[in-house]
Amino acid sequence: MKKLFPVLIAGAMLFLAGCGASPSSTPSTSSGGTVEKQPTIGVAIYKFEDTFMTGVRNAISTAAQGKATVDIVDSQNSQPTQNDKVDLFINKKVNALAINPVDLTAAGVIIDKAKAANTAVVFFNREPLANDMKKWDKVYYVGAKAEESGIMQGQILVDYWKSHPEMDKNKDGTMDVVILTGEPGHQDAIARTKYSVQAIQDAGIKVNILAQDTAMWDRSKAQDKMAAFLGAQGEKIEAVLGNNDDMALGAIEALKAKGYFANNKFMPVVGVDATAPGVQALKDGTLLGTVLNDAKNQGTATLNLAVALAKGLTPSKDNAGYDITDGKYVWVPYKKILKANMADAQ
Ligand code: GAL
Repeated sequence: MKKLFPVLIAGAMLFLAGCGASPSSTPSTSSGGTVEKQPTIGVAIYKFEDTFMTGVRNAISTAAQGKATVDIVDSQNSQPTQNDKVDLFINKKVNALAINPVDLTAAGVIIDKAKAANTAVVFFNREPLANDMKKWDKVYYVGAKAEESGIMQGQILVDYWKSHPEMDKNKDGTMDVVILTGEPGHQDAIARTKYSVQAIQDAGIKVNILAQDTAMWDRSKAQDKMAAFLGAQGEKIEAVLGNNDDMALGAIEALKAKGYFANNKFMPVVGVDATAPGVQALKDGTLLGTVLNDAKNQGTATLNLAVALAKGLTPSKDNAGYDITDGKYVWVPYKKILKANMADAQ
């Protein structure tokens, strides 16, 4: 019995160690054949039914292969639903969180919950307020500088204006535009609207905003809004700025119904994202230009940061593959996309 005792203790300790392992960690075989634990990352998307976020979601899943188990949930555009999902993740003891907030001002509450459970969190696509980001050192953000995308949209219209004098239909030297904006309060909607107009003005061209309204990033809402703009402003409209491709595509549908994109009747329409349907429209010659919002790199950076944090590391270029700015941010660059370089978006 004396001899058996240490063996039993060792056996019991092994059993307990097994139970103590995070229930969410899945064993995987590394290339060397040794078995290692994969962290589980709890991912919440603001709404699955969003074209661009579907691209980011797919990129996260692809990047996770062989590195982590991802549990990706749909917050259905409801912050209370997302908060419940975060509670569930924390109860399940996921090893890190990756959150695309429904309402970016709700990030503070999510950080409080994550901090209390010591579960690091990477936000993406909707940038939390700077003060919330400062609440805890295990909080990161992956996104793109919205201002950059707005400037690029403006520049696309400037180039077209300069090379196509017929765009100034009433020959008054002022670009008469309508703007379809994303969700009110969203950093991308605010900055894209502001900087697209500013970039046109900075090129020495006056801008007159004939109409501006939110279509909530949504194609069919944008089609309705554009139909209303056309009803009220008709031939006065000289260009359309959409804060994203889905809204630009909705505008194109409304324009087609009014005879545009046939018999040499053209309207310059510019979006952002370079989604697959956006690129198809470039190819068709309906969408004049867009700006690549790099879903692949945003998704990959989000996953890589979450994995580093789940392993207890401080994310860095070495362990996550992306430059970290101000200790907390990964900024993925945008790129102007026209028909001529549309291959760059794929
Ligand atoms: C933007 C994107 C939009 C929409 C939004 C959701 O960056 O351009 O299409 O996906 O994010 O937050």
